[in-house]
Amino acid sequence: MINKMAQSSASQIDWDIDEVGGLFSKEAEINIFRLVQEGLNNIAKHAAATAATIQIQKRDTKIEILVADNGKGFDADLYSASPATQKGFGLSGMAERTRILHGAFSIDSAPGKGTRLRISIPTCIEPEKLKPQRGSSNRNQRGT
Ligand SMILES: Nc1ncnc2c1ncn2[C@@H]1O[C@H](COP(=O)(O)OP(=O)(O)OP(=O)(O)O)[C@@H](O)[C@H]1O
Ligand SMILES: [Mg+2]
Repeated sequence: MINKMAQSSASQIDWDIDEVGGLFSKEAEINIFRLVQEGLNNIAKHAAATAATIQIQKRDTKIEILVADNGKGFDADLYSASPATQKGFGLSGMAERTRILHGAFSIDSAPGKGTRLRISIPTCIEPEKLKPQRGSSNRNQRGT
């Protein structure tokens, strides 16, 4: 998705993405993909930026996502004060997806100052990985 955007966009797009495969359930992965996708959509649609950055960093117990641009920005305080009255669904959808993932979402933007979206999502151990592997411990005991 980022490659595609980098090819078709006039702006310089940089990214730095850690390997996060296997840290989340399939549903969570889809939500994370959609989060990044909407951030990129908004850059393409609204920012008129010359540069954008996408980072996904793996920390001990969470991943941190940054989607940033140096474009025209908007009044994030006004947006945060009354998200329900806004015309678009993208940012409120991002907030909702982050809530589903038990994460944190912040918008840092101001007119003329670019936009930085930060999303932090705790990694989770999937319940099925906590279940004992059926039969394996018995076999091991017999072998020793
Ligand atoms: N990267 C950005 N640069 C400049 N303005 C932005 C950026 N992202 C969002 N905005 C502003 O915030 C508003 C709300 O964004 P949101 O994604 O919620 O709605 P939308 O993009 O207008 O519509 P939708 O996402 O439903 O197609 C936008 O209309 C735009 O004015
Ligand atoms: Mg949008």
